[in-house]
Amino acid sequence: MTQDELFKILVAHCKEYGFIFPSSEIYDGLAAVYDYGQMGVELKNNIKQYWWNAMTRLNENIVGIDAAVFMHPSTWVASGHVAAFNDPLIDNRDSKKRYRADVLIEDYLSKIEEKIEKEVAKGRKRFGDAFDEAQFRATNPNVLREKAHYDEVHERYKKAENANDLAEYKQIILDLGIVCPISGTKNWTDVRQFNLMFSTQFGSTGEGANTVYLRPETAQGIFVDYINVQKTGRMKVPFGIAQIGKAFRNEVVARQFIFRMREFEQMEMEFFCKPGTEMEWFAKWKENRMKWHVNLGMGAENYRFHDHEKLAHYANAATDIEFHFPFGFKELEGIHSRTDFDLGNHQQLSGRKLTYFDPETGESYVPYCVETSIGVDRMFLAVLSHSYKQETLENGESRVVLSIPAPLAPVKAAILPLVKKDGLPEVAQEIMNDLKYDFNCQYEDKDSIGKRYRRQDAIGTPYCITVDHDTLVDHCVTVRDRDTMAQERVPIAELKALIDKKVNLNNLLRNL
Ligand code: GAP
Repeated sequence: MTQDELFKILVAHCKEYGFIFPSSEIYDGLAAVYDYGQMGVELKNNIKQYWWNAMTRLNENIVGIDAAVFMHPSTWVASGHVAAFNDPLIDNRDSKKRYRADVLIEDYLSKIEEKIEKEVAKGRKRFGDAFDEAQFRATNPNVLREKAHYDEVHERYKKAENANDLAEYKQIILDLGIVCPISGTKNWTDVRQFNLMFSTQFGSTGEGANTVYLRPETAQGIFVDYINVQKTGRMKVPFGIAQIGKAFRNEVVARQFIFRMREFEQMEMEFFCKPGTEMEWFAKWKENRMKWHVNLGMGAENYRFHDHEKLAHYANAATDIEFHFPFGFKELEGIHSRTDFDLGNHQQLSGRKLTYFDPETGESYVPYCVETSIGVDRMFLAVLSHSYKQETLENGESRVVLSIPAPLAPVKAAILPLVKKDGLPEVAQEIMNDLKYDFNCQYEDKDSIGKRYRRQDAIGTPYCITVDHDTLVDHCVTVRDRDTMAQERVPIAELKALIDKKVNLNNLLRNL
């Protein structure tokens, strides 16, 4: 099965089991807008809790806020979004479809990367244990040819990007023979810039309506509240402000399911520090954030840093943490050293003083800022795509299992009476009533036990607890582990401790 096919199956699975639905589906949906269903919202909340607690509880100098989505329009002038939050767009005249010119080129580059990886995989298969990957990459003519082509296109693309050269974007697309996936033609328009912010009217016309924007990032809420938090919280630089909230972007090419949405959620933390110390903090936050990811146990090899060659005008360092999604390594989180760009501009435009007085040195300065910014939805996709597995069992049957890191799983335990009679439901209900205060549990009594196990595997429930006739005598239940499918008899009195050991979020946090 190709990664593409697997991804389609994952999207269907998300709908079938109540993780994600297309928004307003009964009206045929709304492009790149999705709703989280009964399972999805639990997983999403757990991801947010892991992030929030890691930021605000484990760091005494980081506090949280929840700023409004609507902000004064000047915010977006100061932040540079009104002038420069643009994507380079190109239209295909035949299909009338619109694309991001940079994405067309990046996709082309990804395809070359895929070809190289296929060659390497072939080599690995051919040479078995004797395979020397480094040597193969350095000598195989097919790999070398593709790599040279990649480097040439990449260099040209980066030059165009740095110079913001829209004509060169188009020329690259034409020279590479990139065709529209719908019409199959190269009948492209010129490339032009398109602002990604959604705008709406604020207040009735009578009151003098004002154009406001739906925030395209949560970060600006932190910057404009910085002085309030610093003063009321008596915060001493260095300190951070964290926030989780919705952001909106009129993405031109919204695709790959929840990877790029028009309404999405961000978890952002702005860390304010003394000018001159920002590189040290940038390095610390890079390390800290990578640790947070790897700690989930989804394989260190599935993450990598991608340092930015082209820096935004406000940044003096930037990197992405990329994750190995089914469609390749893609940005999951951004870490930026944003200097004093945001606070400096807000100070200038608002006329309010945003300086910090350092009581130890007697200096006043506008703090510099290091930002960590991760999309909740992308994190959700990373967890789900990594967790989804189709397995063939020893008895020849197959199962679909979501091996979601246990503390993030939507349901932690399913309580299953073997039959709906003989007093078993009553005992099962009692266990449910006891465990539900500590864990999100599900009570299920329909269908055969095998079918119920499959349903719980498909939503990633770490434990299934079966109450059978012996339970009435020995006060033990059968506990089945999602990943190993091993079953053990456990006294009811020990259930809570057993489940807690595996699913308690604090165990994850303690490893950070
Ligand atoms: N404040 C900095 C900022 O917003 P960004 O790289 O544009 O930086 C940060 O976004 C993160 O937000 C990304 O790494 C990604 O995880 C998420 N993100 C951005 N645009 C998104 C979209 N359209 N849909 C889903 N997630 C998105």
